[in-house]
Amino acid sequence: MNEDVNKNSPPKNWDRSGLPGWTYHSPTLLELEIEIFKTHWQIACHVSDVPNAGDFKTFDLCGERAIIIRDSSLKIKAFHNICRHRGSRLVTQDQGTCKNALICPFHGWVYNLDGTLRGAARPDTFPALDKDEFALRTVEHEIWNGFVFVRFKEGPQPSVKKLLSPYEQEAACYNIADQVPTDGFWVEHSPVNWKSIRDVDNEGYHVAMAHPGLQDLYGSNYRDEPYENGVSRSEGQFTTSNGRHWAVRNYKKFSKQQTSLPKSLAKTWVYYGVFPNSVIAMTPETSLFYQEFPVSVGESIIRSATYRYPNEDRQQKVARYLASRIDRETVVEDQQLTIWSNESMLSNSFDGFHLSDLEYGVRTYHDHLRALLPVYNIKETPNENEINHLNLSLDAKSA
Ligand code: FES
Ligand SMILES: [Fe+2]
Repeated sequence: MNEDVNKNSPPKNWDRSGLPGWTYHSPTLLELEIEIFKTHWQIACHVSDVPNAGDFKTFDLCGERAIIIRDSSLKIKAFHNICRHRGSRLVTQDQGTCKNALICPFHGWVYNLDGTLRGAARPDTFPALDKDEFALRTVEHEIWNGFVFVRFKEGPQPSVKKLLSPYEQEAACYNIADQVPTDGFWVEHSPVNWKSIRDVDNEGYHVAMAHPGLQDLYGSNYRDEPYENGVSRSEGQFTTSNGRHWAVRNYKKFSKQQTSLPKSLAKTWVYYGVFPNSVIAMTPETSLFYQEFPVSVGESIIRSATYRYPNEDRQQKVARYLASRIDRETVVEDQQLTIWSNESMLSNSFDGFHLSDLEYGVRTYHDHLRALLPVYNIKETPNENEINHLNLSLDAKSA
């Protein structure tokens, strides 16, 4: 792409057509995309989800599975949730506490909280087992402002700290690492390709029409920045009108300024997009993250969790409740939009998007995908069995 990209405004004559429709319905392409998920940073949880020694949270992603656990020295560790004996899940619950060891439910191998093997069941039936050689395999992890990121395979992104460095100063104002969980994790299946979810989320052009609550909350004060170097930032500053929507009207009344926040963020919702599939958002009352993963070419999981200040007062609690109402409505509205967008691509008459300048974030996000898998540039539907070859030959050409 040799268009001259300005930070907030698209270049002239940019290609507004989006990714070709076939890319939303190709099982072969999905296999290539799954590698993107495994080789890029993913948010597994927040440090407050595992506050005490022995607390764990699991995170499954496209066949990979991690345990995030607080060890006896209170350090956060990340392991593959795979027993070194025959690969069973070590912990089967989504979240919980183990006393001082992880015990495999299959044959009873026992691991210390630092991952080393404590011992096998019937050790007399094995040659000597070294506790480090048979330790749980670690998953790369990094903590950023309290969010625990994991990466299942090495990949092209830098450290999370470097990736999110444009927002470091701003994020610090929220004291996110000190926040605590609210209502646990929210996980839902959606009958669409994962990219249809991301496409809807990557632009604010639809807010005025599709999200009466958000429109009432921040309306024309909403701003998107394009994806640059794997991250993007959006913000919506509350409008000064009272609000017609009851939750918004009351939210504007009850939301009060956190002392740590500068005036510019006091009445603002801020969103950080993290390629390929995560968003971290902050409101004056909460921080939260959400992400989507493919289950199959036409089914995705949406996963999210929200955190609050530990010392919130009654007014903040009410504001948080109202914000969650606005958010829930928005999610339901967006789900419908993703279905409409995704199903259109099966029609012969669908010939691509025609994006507004306000949807430039969709384009810059797609550019990140194209840079990893050039086969996205093929407009006409290829044969499924040619996709891998086409991708490799295009890759070779661009190298
Ligand atoms: S698979 Fe874990 S003890 Fe056998
Ligand atoms: Fe939306």
